[in-house]
Amino acid sequence: MIEIKNLTKIFTSSDESKIVTALKNINLTIEDGEIYGIIGTSGAGKSTLVRCINLLEKPTSGQVLIDGKDLTKLTASEMRRERQKIGMIFQHFNLLWSRTVSGNIAFPLEIAGCPKQEMDKRVSELLELVGLTDKADAYPSQLSGGQKQRVGIARALANHPKVLLSDEATSALDPETTASILELLKTINKELGVTIVVITHEMSVIKEICDRVSVIEKAEIVETGTTVELFTNPKTDIARRFINSVVKTSLPAGFNEKVLSGLLVRLTFIGESAEKPVLSQLVRKFNVDANVLLGSIDNLKDTTFGTLTVELQGNESSIKQGIAFLKDKGIKVEVIQE
Ligand SMILES: Nc1ncnc2c1ncn2[C@@H]1O[C@H](COP(=O)(O)OP(=O)(O)O)[C@@H](O)[C@H]1O
Ligand SMILES: [Mg+2]
Repeated sequence: MIEIKNLTKIFTSSDESKIVTALKNINLTIEDGEIYGIIGTSGAGKSTLVRCINLLEKPTSGQVLIDGKDLTKLTASEMRRERQKIGMIFQHFNLLWSRTVSGNIAFPLEIAGCPKQEMDKRVSELLELVGLTDKADAYPSQLSGGQKQRVGIARALANHPKVLLSDEATSALDPETTASILELLKTINKELGVTIVVITHEMSVIKEICDRVSVIEKAEIVETGTTVELFTNPKTDIARRFINSVVKTSLPAGFNEKVLSGLLVRLTFIGESAEKPVLSQLVRKFNVDANVLLGSIDNLKDTTFGTLTVELQGNESSIKQGIAFLKDKGIKVEVIQE
């Protein structure tokens, strides 16, 4: 478990003329075995936060505890040992260009003083895990972006870390390659039980793989919840903006809501309720007309998520009963316009 308590990080320029508060009183808990997302726009403090988790940056105040051990209080040699339990991958891969794929993956093993035979065995296991066995002797310059990130992942896992930190690891990749890397991260999480912390500015990444998520804005965590909670019930404007970037829940700009004569509602479906024909039941049972204006259905990590923007027409009491029926079926109903 990773616990971050009241973490603040202030950067001060050497002549103290410039002060940047990169993190302000951050509190969050990441459980073993989960995929935890941290989303925010550029400059929000995401990289500083991961750098505090892997001890590349010393917090100005506050604590980072891994399995109850306070990282801010370790000696240099304890710190080296703790750092081996944490792997990290980066947007620009940070590979060693003069070493082959195998050489890159072996590098952290060499540093840890791993015997040659054991090292060779581990490297070939890792090559297989990331699907690069046939590229063992290639150089990074001969690889595609996705293949380079696979090398980065294999290298990060070399010393059997408990935690993998990913800082914008798919941001330089095209959508298809991103999907395959996210799939690989999911496999690593599920099969090796590695806890993964995903830093991103892309909601599509959160949507694909994260169990829980925190939103960071201007150095502060403004919202935390399960991915499903965030999608169905965002509390901050920034969370709503991130959601809107991947699922269209608002009507197009220029749509004139005044032309509607009925009640405009937004329905949000999760899991099973997304697959049931509730709307046709509503129409039949309550004599309410439903005019669908906008709809989308999407996959969150392990569940289905749908929204429908609908104009309901009928008499007031049947609409009221109809809405109660929808809510009873586990659908969230928001009235957008009366
Ligand atoms: N080493 C540093 N010295 C001074 N300011 C820094 C340093 N690292 C980051 N910052 C500042 O801290 C803020 C957060 O940066 P960062 O954590 O990189 O954000 P993000 O990863 O979300 O884009 C920015 O204003 C950035 O300029
Ligand atoms: Mg960053």
